[in-house]
Amino acid sequence: MANYETITIEKKGGVAILTINRPDKLNALNTAVHAEGVAALDELRGDGEVRVLVITGAGEKSFIAGADISEFAGKSPVEQRGTFYERSLFNSLDSFPKPVIAMVNGFCLGGGNELALACDIRICTPNARFSQPEINLGIMPGGGGTQRLTRLVGEGRSMEMILTGDMIDAETAHKFGLVNHVYNADELEAKTMEMANKIAEKAPIALQLCKEAVKFASRSNLDEGLRREVDLFALVFSTEDKTEGVSAFLEKRKPVFKGK
Ligand code: COA
Repeated sequence: MANYETITIEKKGGVAILTINRPDKLNALNTAVHAEGVAALDELRGDGEVRVLVITGAGEKSFIAGADISEFAGKSPVEQRGTFYERSLFNSLDSFPKPVIAMVNGFCLGGGNELALACDIRICTPNARFSQPEINLGIMPGGGGTQRLTRLVGEGRSMEMILTGDMIDAETAHKFGLVNHVYNADELEAKTMEMANKIAEKAPIALQLCKEAVKFASRSNLDEGLRREVDLFALVFSTEDKTEGVSAFLEKRKPVFKGK
């Protein structure tokens, strides 16, 4: 992996942990984090050893406290649009072909919440706080907040978060379905890695196609979604891992998936 200044990447077996590393700024997303994050995702995408990605923030206080507000003043509308458009960190995560878990260890605000929303699964500590506070700055979410949050938690809850800018606590986020699990800080990493390792043992191509199908559910109507699913279901039958999975079941042994 390349050397990055604002992020670190650690590999543990089939799991890579990407940490946003600006704890003195509560891991706020500046231009460098966006650029390095996209570059790192490109590297991890092609790394055959990495089957699952975990994203977290450095320190115990914050996952990501949003976009770096100090950069807002100097950015032109076109530059700002460029950061958030098409090849953005949010969209790179959304289209990342391997499962991604957001391990939320504190403040998860604005662009931080949008980044977590672009992941597949969110797990947090009891002290985590979630918000889309852009309205308090006289602006609005631009990294997918209005779209991904609404699809995940529903219009009423999304409206409340986006229009008030208020923080919600971990328990409320869990009730909303914004996070899958809440674990104490001392067990967050172990529990997250337990899930990541379990997923990392599955067939990589099947995982990728599952992700594609599930994501398509909120982007299509039911008939189109069902058609896409059955096409992907047929495609997965062409893999060696399908043969291995079925043989292993019939031979009463554990399958060994190769991503082929
Ligand atoms: N952008 C840039 N810097 C940020 C930041 C952000 N989004 N969030 C926090 N920081 C910086 C602070 O400016 C401070 O830097 P300094 O020590 O150089 O002054 C440092 O991180 C620590 O933050 P601080 O505000 O002192 O911590 P706190 O515990 O008192 O408050 C928050 C924590 C999260 C409530 C507060 O930092 C905050 O409201 N941040 C902005 C959240 C936001 O609106 N994000 C969305 C942007 S669209």
